[in-house]
Amino acid sequence: MQVSTISFDRFNVLADNEAQERIRAARARLGDRAVLLCHHYQRADVYQHADLTGDSLKLARLASQTDAEYIVFCGVHFMAEVADILSKPSQIAILPDLAAGCSMADMASLAKVERCWRELAEVLDRTDELITPVTYINSAADLKAFCGEHGGIVCTSTNAPTILDWAFSRREKVLFFPDQHLGRWTGFKKGIPLDEMVVWDPDLEYGGLTPEQIRKAKILLWKGHCSVHQMFQPVHIDRWREKHPHGFVISHPESMLEVCQKSDYVGSTEFILNTITNAPPNTHWLVGTELNLVSRLAEEMKPQGKVVQFMAPTVCMCSTMQRIDPQHLAWTLENLAEGKVVNQIKVPEHEAELARIALDRMLAVS
Ligand code: 13P
Ligand code: SF4
Repeated sequence: MQVSTISFDRFNVLADNEAQERIRAARARLGDRAVLLCHHYQRADVYQHADLTGDSLKLARLASQTDAEYIVFCGVHFMAEVADILSKPSQIAILPDLAAGCSMADMASLAKVERCWRELAEVLDRTDELITPVTYINSAADLKAFCGEHGGIVCTSTNAPTILDWAFSRREKVLFFPDQHLGRWTGFKKGIPLDEMVVWDPDLEYGGLTPEQIRKAKILLWKGHCSVHQMFQPVHIDRWREKHPHGFVISHPESMLEVCQKSDYVGSTEFILNTITNAPPNTHWLVGTELNLVSRLAEEMKPQGKVVQFMAPTVCMCSTMQRIDPQHLAWTLENLAEGKVVNQIKVPEHEAELARIALDRMLAVS
């Protein structure tokens, strides 16, 4: 029998403090039947309820290890899909607001990647022997399935260097999607010349490349980017260093190449958090990643005299992840406490099977 769910309308108008109360009450009723996984970019009023936090790789592993009946994912859509794919069939992955997508993930679609693969085959003949498709975990499940089917793999910002080694040990070229910047930075660190990493524009025939460029390329970089990380510019680092010559700059690899080159450290959100947390007291940091994480770090580091500053002069948040607010979380948890599942993320079985192949390859090598 279909049980009708509690409507969100009543929660939309809840004051923040009331939403917080109801989250706590629903959690108490649910006990260990629900686990709350939170990405580091999650807003503070939701992050405070996390059972487990992490970057994409850590959260993927945690999702595969938990025994909770409900995995409530405070992150974005692709993260909840990964939780669904890697968890047991009896577990249910939930995204408190279905509008919490990733704009970068949306820059690559299966139709466009399949067209790219066909066009590459026209130029190179044997794509499955010559090119390893590598998808950043920030992508839809059907693209992970594409990689599973074509001898490819998934990577995260943490393991991208290891994954590129794996990919090149099998085939001579890599098609990297959807983030050109992570692909370029990782290739650059491996010594691949910039002119052998060409950008594939999915809106142009043959990606806007000549057959000669395609034959010469080691990495074909999908023309995609993160709208948050594109805000960080080399000039922000230059100006800051003039004022803080002894300070440190740390950036996420979704930032452009020139920003990564000018940074002292480059790595995932978990890496950024650990590096600053473990740094000596009274150090000064400029951070190129999302504002919620940077603001939280700035507060937490104050007692140790560490100063943590955001790289861009403008406010740039992951506006989609921001949609998961206390009201949506309270609504989700109260429904679960009543035995009603809302906003379940369920990847179709055939797609999940192929995507799991690409994810398992990643987990095995990283
Ligand atoms: P991390 O895996 O480093 O947390 O990155 C995820 C992400 O979306 C960064 O924008
Ligand atoms: Fe996607 Fe950028 Fe948000 Fe990360 S910060 S989830 S890449 S839109």
